[in-house]
Amino acid sequence: MPSSPAAAVYGTVLPALADTPAGAVQVSPLMPGAASLEAMEAGSLASMLMLAPQGTLERRYAIAQALRALAPDGRLTVLAPKDKGGSRLAGDLAALGAPCNETARRHHRICVAGRPADLGAVEGAIAEGAPRYLERLGLWTQPGVFSWDRVDAGTAQLMERMPALTGRGADLGCGLGVLAARVLQSPAVSALVLVDNDRRAVEAARRNVDDARADIRWADVRAMEQAPADLDFVVMNPPFHVGGAEDRALGQAFIRQAAAMLKKGGVLWIVANRHLPYEAVLAEHFARVTPHGEDAGFKVHEARR
Ligand SMILES: C[S@@+](CC[C@H](N)C(=O)[O-])C[C@H]1O[C@@H](n2cnc3c(N)ncnc32)[C@H](O)[C@@H]1O
Repeated sequence: MPSSPAAAVYGTVLPALADTPAGAVQVSPLMPGAASLEAMEAGSLASMLMLAPQGTLERRYAIAQALRALAPDGRLTVLAPKDKGGSRLAGDLAALGAPCNETARRHHRICVAGRPADLGAVEGAIAEGAPRYLERLGLWTQPGVFSWDRVDAGTAQLMERMPALTGRGADLGCGLGVLAARVLQSPAVSALVLVDNDRRAVEAARRNVDDARADIRWADVRAMEQAPADLDFVVMNPPFHVGGAEDRALGQAFIRQAAAMLKKGGVLWIVANRHLPYEAVLAEHFARVTPHGEDAGFKVHEARR
């Protein structure tokens, strides 16, 4: 008996673009609690609907995983906005040995394909997009995770300016765990909660931050169950994109969450791109906000509750 469901969906697809198969199980790594596409039995899915991610390696990896999981007579529908990888879908599928039927709707390309008989190219794309240890970074990582093959310039600036911290804290939107690893170099840190909504980042962070003081969670910072409270500090380089589009409200929500998690007198260390309007929300939720310089397009703030 196959243990996998008959249908799966990756991401949220507007009904105007394609019908989500009945009973489809969510497999997007960006949706905390979703099932893992990688863990699905090969050849088990009758149908799969995917809003393909934008990055090339990540997109090919996700499509290849979908084709691997598809039953021999199964059907994969994959779509994306034309300017966010959609125009590449037909080529990606052909290169994976799965020529498709392509249509266009509402600025999207929609491709329908079956499982190739020869899975050689599928296995190659899976290997190219898989988790790996990057020697030059000294980190486990995976294409698709934020700044997967380099330390982000904003994060580097925050690490330069932030002092050694003390007590219990959190790293909101922890990514691969670069900031967290730095924070944990301070022996005066007693506990650190790391949170990210990307399962791939969380899995990498679990390997990168091997420290008994770390509690690493796959969750949406805006909707955490058992959110930490009375913290001494929070560090973050908050996200400001959702689905490839800028969303300033996301970073502002992170700032409100940080304030809610901190005890009175607790401190937030935050880095942000210079153009982002975070000053008003910082002033609203914190007693004292100190800028620590702007450099190369980034600004660092220390905000005390
Ligand atoms: C700018 S990156 C910073 C990553 C890491 N702290 C670093 O400095 O390299 C923001 C991180 O927030 C995560 N993220 C985005 N939306 C989120 C949400 N709603 N809840 C939790 N994490 C989220 C992203 O996956 C990404 O890893």
